Amino acid sequence: MIAWVNKVVALTSILLCFCDKDQVMVILLTGGAGYIGSHTARQLSGQGFQVIIYDNFSSGHREAVKEFPIVAGDIADADMVRATITRYRIQAVIHFAADSLVAASVTNPARYFQNNVCKGLILFNQLVDQNVRYIILSSSAAVYGEPSVVPINEEHPLKPANPYGDTKCMLEKILQRYHEAYGLKYASLRYFNAAGAYPGGDIGEDHEPETHLIPTVLKAALGQIEKVSVFGRDYPTRDGTAVRDYVHVKDLAEAHVLALNALRHGMPSTAYNLGSEEGFSVLEVLRTATKITGKSIKYEVGPRRAGDPAVLVASSTKIKRELGWHPEHKTLAEIIGTAWKWHLSHPHGYKVPSSGDSEIE
Ligand code: UFG
Repeated sequence: MIAWVNKVVALTSILLCFCDKDQVMVILLTGGAGYIGSHTARQLSGQGFQVIIYDNFSSGHREAVKEFPIVAGDIADADMVRATITRYRIQAVIHFAADSLVAASVTNPARYFQNNVCKGLILFNQLVDQNVRYIILSSSAAVYGEPSVVPINEEHPLKPANPYGDTKCMLEKILQRYHEAYGLKYASLRYFNAAGAYPGGDIGEDHEPETHLIPTVLKAALGQIEKVSVFGRDYPTRDGTAVRDYVHVKDLAEAHVLALNALRHGMPSTAYNLGSEEGFSVLEVLRTATKITGKSIKYEVGPRRAGDPAVLVASSTKIKRELGWHPEHKTLAEIIGTAWKWHLSHPHGYKVPSSGDSEIE
């Protein structure tokens, strides 16, 4: 009789486990109304996940996530985080909410440690308290600092060159310790330079102020700014300008889906680099954008920007090998092409221009 009961219990737990893995998962995206968050929301929902956006709208856009349930709140509001987890039965979190500008972190480190680390910790504590088992952390190539070897793989020492990178390193370390102590499973995705837009051109990159290279270059192509400042031409690179690895935002989004699926099917907690594995200098980006847009784009060379390493190029071999990640939009021309489509159709970003604003033809 006891043996029979044991068999039933074992069978039931196998079935429950099976159900847990295959039911529709509800995922909370902190900072989900931002650039990478909104693309990931779409990618997840296209693959059957239920997505809830959690954003304080300090920089996110409601228009980017209008098809999803939205909770307007700050991750530092522990009560609201807890209520959201309970209300929607959240099973996993993808944590995008953070300040993410290297230069701003150099001049105002207090803000970065407060918003990224202190608030991140409040969120993580709620996940542990509420038994949320999985988290994907939006991390960054900035954790490596000035690399000693290129391309950079995940074994490269973590030596951030700016406070932004420090904050991502700290969050990764906290997750590692929380995993060991509380069993919270995580994947840290270290993005290189996210760029491009959803190929349909209806969502894309819209920051205020815009500091990133590709949207700045495209604003110059649209005539919205007179010229692009090239930050430094005295780097030890092929043309003296800084080299970055631009990776398409939709490919980044797909990596989140792969990592989440792998975690819930037993993958150990880990970190992955996400890049195209090819570096382009600032001047090469300008040249490619000139070709794609057919516009002449003026630039002037200025001083280096504080906190910028000379070269950041990924090795993404680990995520390709372990999770089968295959970037679809591999070339810089494709990446800039999708961004250009977004900028042409949304010259003011998500903002609807008032009648006084002049329109771009
Ligand atoms: N650049 C210019 N002129 C500009 C803007 C940028 O010359 O007007 C240069 C920068 O100095 C840098 C390169 O272009 O060498 C790319 O700059 P971005 O501002 O587009 O991106 P970053 O490399 O500074 O940072 C991005 C993300 C960070 C992330 C980092 C990881 O914003 O969150 O990639 O590589 F940490």
